[in-house]
Amino acid sequence: MKVSGSVLAGMVAVGAAAEAGCPQPLRNMVYFDQYHTAILPSHDVTAGITHVVMSFANSSLFATPNMTEEYKPFMDVSKVRAMFDNGTQVGVALGGWGDTNGFGAGAKTEASRKQYARNIAAMATKLGFDFIDIDWEYPGGNGADYKQIPNSDKVDEITTYPLLLQEIKDAIKPRALSIAVPGKAVDMIAYTPEHAPAIFAAVDMVNVMAYDLMNRRDNATAHHTDLQGSLKAVDAYLALGCPAAKLNLGLAFYAKYFQTAKGVDCSGGPIGCPILLAENATDGSDLGTSGAITFEKANVSPPPPPTNLTTSKDQSCGTGTAFTCQGLADAGCCSQYGFCGSTPAHCGAGCQAGFGTCTGPQIGASFVSALKESKTDEVAGGQWWWDASNELFWTLDTVPLMQRKFKEIVAARGLGGIFAWSLGEDSYDWSHLKAMREGVKGLSKASRK
Ligand SMILES: *[C@@H]1O[C@H](CO)[C@@H](O)[C@H](O)[C@H]1NC(C)=O
Ligand SMILES: *[C@@H]1O[C@H](CO)[C@@H](O)[C@H](O)[C@H]1NC(C)=O
Ligand SMILES: *[C@@H]1O[C@H](CO)[C@@H](O)[C@H](O)[C@H]1NC(C)=O
Ligand SMILES: *[C@@H]1O[C@H](CO)[C@@H](O)[C@H](O)[C@H]1NC(C)=O
Ligand SMILES: *[C@@H]1O[C@H](CO)[C@@H](O)[C@H](O)[C@H]1NC(C)=O
Ligand SMILES: *[C@@H]1O[C@H](CO)[C@@H](O)[C@H](O)[C@H]1NC(C)=O
Repeated sequence: MKVSGSVLAGMVAVGAAAEAGCPQPLRNMVYFDQYHTAILPSHDVTAGITHVVMSFANSSLFATPNMTEEYKPFMDVSKVRAMFDNGTQVGVALGGWGDTNGFGAGAKTEASRKQYARNIAAMATKLGFDFIDIDWEYPGGNGADYKQIPNSDKVDEITTYPLLLQEIKDAIKPRALSIAVPGKAVDMIAYTPEHAPAIFAAVDMVNVMAYDLMNRRDNATAHHTDLQGSLKAVDAYLALGCPAAKLNLGLAFYAKYFQTAKGVDCSGGPIGCPILLAENATDGSDLGTSGAITFEKANVSPPPPPTNLTTSKDQSCGTGTAFTCQGLADAGCCSQYGFCGSTPAHCGAGCQAGFGTCTGPQIGASFVSALKESKTDEVAGGQWWWDASNELFWTLDTVPLMQRKFKEIVAARGLGGIFAWSLGEDSYDWSHLKAMREGVKGLSKASRK
């Protein structure tokens, strides 16, 4: 078995520090997702990051006997390791939003749990990961498939989830095990007073997804990652008995938008203004009236469309091309994915106005305005803006509000660290990532006095 020396060295150091009554260094963790790799941070930007989580490995891979298909990381683990400080722990996350089948199958019986755990351990050994992250959204239900598979069919997961985690921990030792856990109380189905102690006992880190606190299942505006909402999420896990040192507070490197109800003035405040239906009540699919925009260069500071646009010959269009849909009969709109067409998916939210006609709200231009015009709700600790002309509500986090989270949540509750979704989404100027490093540094110094 190959375990990188830094894992063992790190564990010894942490154990010694805890024995001597010294505070442990705060964790500064980032998820590194496969969809945001075009612009990568330099070494001076990643300095101070203690944990990086490559995401995602499909949960179903580990549910087959002896892994019929191998997990292939989107980037060589050695290449990822080289992007960070020496000694940064590199892990892999299984699952993610919409991927629950493998977990459900793996958790079912004692035999399936052992097999699932064995498969994960073999993969971690082979690829040289330092830790494993289980991103099951969510045990017990309320996932992307909740209209297809009702929560009532997942009741057994409330019992089997902690058992699965314990099997995984036993199989991957001495590697660490982390879990990503829901930020909204309504989704904490498996985190019951009866079962939570076994969950927390099995894992080393609990990543509280304190974002998307307003999501497409809501019917009125609210902050998606405000300070008060984040604190409430953290306190829910503390109340269930999670040791504060295991908790990492989640930060979001993206803003969310929601179309507000036609003709309703939402300028009065960030809470409680009606929005358009955002999720199909029958099949749970997205209705395209809400979404997320990352802090990437292409969004924060989009380049102007080229001036030498020509009409598309193959329906391709938009950012990165010199093709417009203007002039195409019945296909004059350029969709957010770069295709000409005339359906609501082409002409509605996300439609690229520089490359054709659009009928929906101008998300890209509105986001640039939101970054300039948004206001701070100092009480809740959330940033928001209502774009009257596009009838769009924006909710996001800022560097000053993240700094407050360090003081008013991480320090106030004695948490073990923070994490962000996700590294590549901050590539405009890495300012949020830098704020994390400064926040961790500040607290580590303060607690050492
Ligand atoms: C994961 O793998 C399963 C089984 O091969 C497949 O059906 C599913 O679409 C995959 N999920 C994702 C998110 O790729
Ligand atoms: C899986 O591996 C185990 C142990 O190596 C072996 O006994 C078993 O037959 C294998 N199962 C399958 C389905 O290949
Ligand atoms: C990191 O480790 C490599 C290889 O062991 C070494 O060459 C390099 O100098 C180290 N970098 C730092 C900043 O310690
Ligand atoms: C909006 O959601 C709340 C909470 O889920 C619910 O009580 C209320 O009835 C909903 N309102 C409408 C108009 O659907
Ligand atoms: C919602 O989903 C159902 C079933 O897939 C579909 O028939 C219906 O058209 C959808 N409604 C909307 C508003 O998209
Ligand atoms: C359009 O102009 C850009 C530079 O501004 C150039 O790179 C590109 O090749 C041009 N495209 C066409 C189709 O002329």
